[in-house]
Amino acid sequence: MNLNKDITILAIETSCDETSAAVVRNGRHVLSNVISTQIDIHKKFGGVVPEVASRKHLENVNIIVQEAMQQAGIKLEEIDAVAVTSGPGLVGALLIGLTTAKALAYSINKPLIGVNHIEGHIAANYIQHKELQPPFVCLVASGGHSHIVKVADYDSFDILGKTRDDAAGEAFDKIARALGLGYPGGPLIDKLSAEGNPAAIGFPRVFLEEGSYDFSFSGLKSAALNYLNSMKMKEEKINVADVAASFQAAVVEVLAEKLVRAAAEHNSKYAVLAGGVAANSKLREELQRLGNQRGIEVLYPSPILCTDNAAMIGSAAYYRFIKGTSSDMTLNARPNLTIGESV
Ligand code: KG4
Ligand code: ZN
Repeated sequence: MNLNKDITILAIETSCDETSAAVVRNGRHVLSNVISTQIDIHKKFGGVVPEVASRKHLENVNIIVQEAMQQAGIKLEEIDAVAVTSGPGLVGALLIGLTTAKALAYSINKPLIGVNHIEGHIAANYIQHKELQPPFVCLVASGGHSHIVKVADYDSFDILGKTRDDAAGEAFDKIARALGLGYPGGPLIDKLSAEGNPAAIGFPRVFLEEGSYDFSFSGLKSAALNYLNSMKMKEEKINVADVAASFQAAVVEVLAEKLVRAAAEHNSKYAVLAGGVAANSKLREELQRLGNQRGIEVLYPSPILCTDNAAMIGSAAYYRFIKGTSSDMTLNARPNLTIGESV
């Protein structure tokens, strides 16, 4: 592989409710990152409706790709590879991105590179922190996943811990719905928590067995729902901001403590955050505090790179491309793909 040449990758991401296309150069320089979110459409249903998501991706994907190319000032002939999320995600949504990417790669006779969405979230940090290189320890927390991962190399991951039930973002979304805040819940709880008292309600902090890096949020979720039900039964007024802040504090304390401990125990200079929940302001603050105490540098991407976007897919794809890894036209959607599993 001639690394003296710039490598320009067109990336497509359609795994959930964002249609996104990006042009990324040499894995770290974003020439464009266009994101069309469907949040307003799914909001009325209180969550993502898979069939509606696929339909909207189909309507938008070509326009978004064109816009990404235009903003980057790039012609199709200048693209070295086409990258696409092949999983995990909603099968119908993934298939729209995959079909589009295959058609484009075929038409310009350039490699197709399938990317694992979770690995994409981690790669968002390479865009944000130009000096960051593996190995490091990372917490990936989003609507569908919560993993603590040792990133041994750009394409090599050891899972140190993961959720045994709900993902962290999913817990935020469910409690937000119970509080009548809307969808997606994470940003709404984050915002409202600033007005609440995090010590108002003593929700459980579930650390599991000594030394475990796994998570469990279902007990906390039940405790919050039981609290809301019992208040309603007693006809007592619920302070929504206090519930939000107390719930957020319980999630954040466990995530931050486990990540910093994992980083310390695996001699990682950095504790890195990735995924939608990485945008949480309290999580960033708490991590910073624990990181300072233990001499570990805390890194996270800017909010736009935390939630789903194609630039992170373009970054992850670059490190596959320079190793000569690509996919063929049989690349298929893998809704349940886990981290480290080849696409
Ligand atoms: O990575 P992402 O955009 O999609 C998935 O791959 O799942 O993550 C979306 C999740 C949602 O559950 C959303 O509520 C959560 O990330 N989220 C947040 C915040 N922003 C997004 N959770 C807590 N605090 C936030 N500020
Ligand atoms: Zn995601």
